[in-house]
Amino acid sequence: MRIVALALVCLMTISLVSSHAVLTNPVSWNTNPSKTSPCGGGTPATAPVATYCKGQPATLTWKVVAGDGTGPLTISIDPAGGTSFTTVVNQVAPAVNPNAVSTFKAVVTMPDITCDKCTLQVFSSSNWFSCSTIKIAEKCDTPVEDRQAVLADDLTFCGKWVNEHVVSIPVGQTAETIDDSVAATFAANLKNPLVFQNNDTNCANKYAAFLCAYNFPLDDPSGNVSQPIYKISEGQCAGMNDACATTDLHRTLYPCDSYPTSNNAFNIVPSMIAFVAVVVLALLF
Ligand SMILES: *[C@@H]1O[C@H](CO)[C@@H](O)[C@H](O)[C@H]1NC(C)=O
Ligand SMILES: *[C@@H]1O[C@H](CO)[C@@H](O)[C@H](O)[C@H]1NC(C)=O
Repeated sequence: MRIVALALVCLMTISLVSSHAVLTNPVSWNTNPSKTSPCGGGTPATAPVATYCKGQPATLTWKVVAGDGTGPLTISIDPAGGTSFTTVVNQVAPAVNPNAVSTFKAVVTMPDITCDKCTLQVFSSSNWFSCSTIKIAEKCDTPVEDRQAVLADDLTFCGKWVNEHVVSIPVGQTAETIDDSVAATFAANLKNPLVFQNNDTNCANKYAAFLCAYNFPLDDPSGNVSQPIYKISEGQCAGMNDACATTDLHRTLYPCDSYPTSNNAFNIVPSMIAFVAVVVLALLF
């Protein structure tokens, strides 16, 4: 009798871990897959488990653990934190279509609303349901970095643009180490077809200029080191994307319309500092 009971427990455990589909990021109320509508059961979180930005891209992760969990996803939000899913969240093209046992990243655009505690619902056409409690912030504030003004001199990679200029870089780094990492990022991305589908000389020149402008903003002549001056325009960004045949995913993740239309210097806002750091890293993947 005891052996039968043990065997049953084992079977149940196996079927729990080897079945179906579930939202894994943000963490869902029930971390096991479930067909219970609308949220897959579980206990609603008392506080948001993730914060996203209004109108900005966010990446969700959906895990298919058995073939019966495949199928396109529908993603919605209840801004009031309940389970009335009135706000549909659009997926960034190409929409994810989980069609195999694997982990899928769905890039969505958060709606133009804010909420301290909303419910995110994801379900597959095969009717696996998950919910998570999230926050949508007005803008994602990042701490303003401590920066220092240095005279760029003898830089090898970005030197052509910034040597003999006073640039603004984070405290604790040197212009030389930043130059080296820009060169490494450049080389890695140029040969990554998931980022660029063309990497001829025209693309390489435009991408190098863009990366250097990103990483070596000019120091504010009025002497305010926390206010670096970036010289990047929407047109420069778009020109690089065209020359390099940047993949749709990367164009959507890093839209050029976040830059001013003119080529005049502009003062970067704190949230864009994070964007800069992220773009340099993320373009690697
Ligand atoms: C261009 O991309 C191809 C692969 O897509 C790669 O083999 C080649 O090394 C790249 N060229 C440069 C200069 O990185
Ligand atoms: C320096 O720039 C920062 C960031 O833009 C700003 O918050 C601060 O007020 C500026 N300080 C001065 C003295 O202008």
